[in-house]
Amino acid sequence: MKQVPTQYDFSPMLFFIDTADITEIRRALSWGICDGVTTNPTLVAKTDKTFDSIIDEILAEVDGPVSLEVTVTDYETMMDQARQLTARGSNVVVKLPMTPDGIRATRTCTEEGIETNVTLVFSATQALIAAKAGATYVSPFIGRLDDIASDGMSVLADIVEIYRNYEFDTQVLAASIRHPEHVVDAARLGAHVATIPIGVLEKLFRHPLTDAGLTRFMEDAKRVPSLD
Ligand code: E4P
Repeated sequence: MKQVPTQYDFSPMLFFIDTADITEIRRALSWGICDGVTTNPTLVAKTDKTFDSIIDEILAEVDGPVSLEVTVTDYETMMDQARQLTARGSNVVVKLPMTPDGIRATRTCTEEGIETNVTLVFSATQALIAAKAGATYVSPFIGRLDDIASDGMSVLADIVEIYRNYEFDTQVLAASIRHPEHVVDAARLGAHVATIPIGVLEKLFRHPLTDAGLTRFMEDAKRVPSLD
């Protein structure tokens, strides 16, 4: 993994939950450490609900950024969907694919004040294009790169370095996170955001020494008078 200076800027790293499942979202929100949500058509399809009802459910409970993905690939229809999605809530971020039409739509959204998340990013050149189009977020898919024996974290390091060189406002959103080490590496490299599945979020809390220590404290607490 490449090493770059650890701080990209002085904002705290944000955690988004990567799901369309409202139960998982509520669970993550209850911990007070979840700042937003990302969804995609595959995550929506895993629920047995319509995209429309999922949008209502999520926006009723989440104040932070909620990425909702367009379901078409041509510029005109993407822009129609982008405007419709944005009208649903002031915290909607329109997720657009890393294609020429998607980038053209990103540029138009930027000009219209619509927040965007350019998705399916697998290289630094794609991320550079997304930033030049004024994307609010860029989503490099770390796990999917690792899956094909590439180094996803090295691509993220390149993106952070390039954005810092030119002071792009686009935020680096580490996506396709598969395990806690991805979160640690993304944080060390200075990614602004990690979008994390519920299972990985839960693992971030855990340490065997915490469990063992707590068991001992609770046993010892039984031997002394309790607080009333
Ligand atoms: C994020 O926005 C993406 O939808 C998501 O992280 C993809 O993750 P996957 O590669 O595990 O499907």
